[in-house]
Amino acid sequence: MALRKLVAGNWKMNGSLEALAELDAIAAAAREQAGVDVAVCPPFTLIAPAAQRQPGLAIGAQDCHGNAKGAHTGCVSAAMLAEAGAKLAIVGHSERRADQHETDAEVQAKAVAAIGAGLTAIVCVGETEAERDAGRAVAVVEGQLDGSIPRDGKAATLVVAYEPVWAIGTGRTPSTADVAEMHAAIRTKLGALLGGEGPGVRILYGGSVKPDNARELLAVADVDGALVGGASLTAAQFVPIIEGAV
Ligand code: G3P
Repeated sequence: MALRKLVAGNWKMNGSLEALAELDAIAAAAREQAGVDVAVCPPFTLIAPAAQRQPGLAIGAQDCHGNAKGAHTGCVSAAMLAEAGAKLAIVGHSERRADQHETDAEVQAKAVAAIGAGLTAIVCVGETEAERDAGRAVAVVEGQLDGSIPRDGKAATLVVAYEPVWAIGTGRTPSTADVAEMHAAIRTKLGALLGGEGPGVRILYGGSVKPDNARELLAVADVDGALVGGASLTAAQFVPIIEGAV
């Protein structure tokens, strides 16, 4: 089933108030490409000004806490993000799984919290290069899905992003055959975990998506959009990727 594509930008720890000017052309492209959903996920501090600057553009967060409130110094809850104007939250990005040692169970709690606060949760999964070389890529991703996907996840508010760790920020991408194999495996797993909701959950590809490879990657079966890092920081690079999703 062909799903409406979602192209989301993950600014990671980049950006500034001045950089929000990039959102003007991105929002204009999003209006023009009415068949594609577009989102930008800047750092926490830029969510409110981004949402105020471009109220028609979906703004997201890059993380949220798994609890609603409490003694968690330095953390931000999903409800706080929603109040700031966020519509989505990325959870379980491999950089957080590695740097902050986030477990599947914590990622699942974050996804549940995000959805509970009215946000769409983008749950990230992906294998390392060593795991792929060992022939374990699909098994690793299936295990992450088992542990990270909320069991009552609904297609409208749950998105999965497949980001092979070795493709992030490296300029390397898997072959389209490898992307197709993994996305098919994820689709099957989502069916097993979520039943009738599984076929409607969008599966994004992420990892060195650029203007010159976006169209090819986005044409692969079961690739329902892209999660873009470096190339989402400027409209000059992000807009052609949005256009490649049409
Ligand atoms: O979340 C997106 C990201 O991890 C991919 O980064 O810079 O390879 O597009 P990049």
